[in-house]
Amino acid sequence: MTESNSYHIPDQDKTIIASGYHKNFRQDEYAFGEIISDIDYGRRIREGDRLLNVRYIVESILHENCDVILYKCRDFFTDSIVVIKAIGPWLRENEKEGIIKHFGDIRNLVHPNIATFLTLEKNDAAHEYFLIREYIEGEDLESLLRHSENERLPIPETVRLLRQVAEALDYAHDRGVLHRAVRCSNIIVTSNGDAKLIDFLFGENELGTQPDQSTYPPCFKEKDHDEMNRKWEYKSPEQWDRMLALSDLDIFECTDEEWTAADAKGKTTPATDEYSLAVVAYRCLAGHTPFGNAQGFREIGKKTLNDAIPRIKSLSRASNAVLAKALSKKPEDRYASCQEFMENLETALKPGGLSRWWQNARRMMSFFG
Ligand SMILES: Nc1ncnc2c1ncn2[C@@H]1O[C@H](COP(=O)(O)OP(=O)(O)O)[C@@H](O)[C@H]1O
Ligand SMILES: [Mg+2]
Repeated sequence: MTESNSYHIPDQDKTIIASGYHKNFRQDEYAFGEIISDIDYGRRIREGDRLLNVRYIVESILHENCDVILYKCRDFFTDSIVVIKAIGPWLRENEKEGIIKHFGDIRNLVHPNIATFLTLEKNDAAHEYFLIREYIEGEDLESLLRHSENERLPIPETVRLLRQVAEALDYAHDRGVLHRAVRCSNIIVTSNGDAKLIDFLFGENELGTQPDQSTYPPCFKEKDHDEMNRKWEYKSPEQWDRMLALSDLDIFECTDEEWTAADAKGKTTPATDEYSLAVVAYRCLAGHTPFGNAQGFREIGKKTLNDAIPRIKSLSRASNAVLAKALSKKPEDRYASCQEFMENLETALKPGGLSRWWQNARRMMSFFG
């Protein structure tokens, strides 16, 4: 008997057609963790439940925070392990249309360093979308760094992983697709030590506001707040232009015109992903992001827009210069591609390019034989 056969199909009354969803910033009507389903209302999804017309059996909750829940599931049809990510009911109509269009684009990305997108499902009852992607055995880079000494990675490992990510990003850019949310938690390091990019953002739809902590559900933990703040540290100056404009609006009260005008600010381009990739590189090499000491959403934004990138003391001038170029405030001052950035970083990080002091020392040594 194969493993999948050992799962029994639960009784009809246990079948769930929608995911648990939670209270969110734009609509208050859903309580955290309640199942929005005609069949089984008011209970959290748990192990053994089946999603989407009984096809997917929940093995565990992989990840949850105040705006998404991810389920690790077994696909009963293909006997494979997948990840189902529930995308919230808070989206505006045009954002929902954006999801469908954008899914069409990301679905076509086939690359060894990008997690394969399997399908997008919609649940009409709950106005939710379910993004289904292959499950990657491994650990995300954020958690890997947190478990590493001084939250850093050795230089060769950093270069190896991030060259793969750069290649994946350039591949997506060549096909007109931007990631827009490159950060350590969106890079999974597989058990073979390779990088896989997950979590392409649907449109520009990262909310330009910090959620009001008083509206957080009781089960919301401090770590979620930390996680929320961390994701802002990777955003480029052009993304902050838009996010700060949006955060000046009252999202419940503003008109659609006001929202649209703020939303149109700060155009993202491939250089946006390059900037975020450079923040990832900086974090791996320094143990923190350039503005990781900023307190809260606005301060991170203001520093990203105005402050010079602090030097990493343990690195040479050349390596700091490469990072600073990829982290330029103006997109046009960055490298022409993510791979060009990583090639330059690799060269600068090589012992030969480590520092002028080293070069002089080597010359002296060869002079004195
Ligand atoms: N396909 C996958 N395989 C393995 N782990 C995954 C996968 N997708 C997501 N995860 C884990 O879940 C976390 C959150 O997933 P993600 O899609 O990035 O959600 P969020 O929108 O909260 O950033 C990731 O950081 C990773 O640890
Ligand atoms: Mg993510």
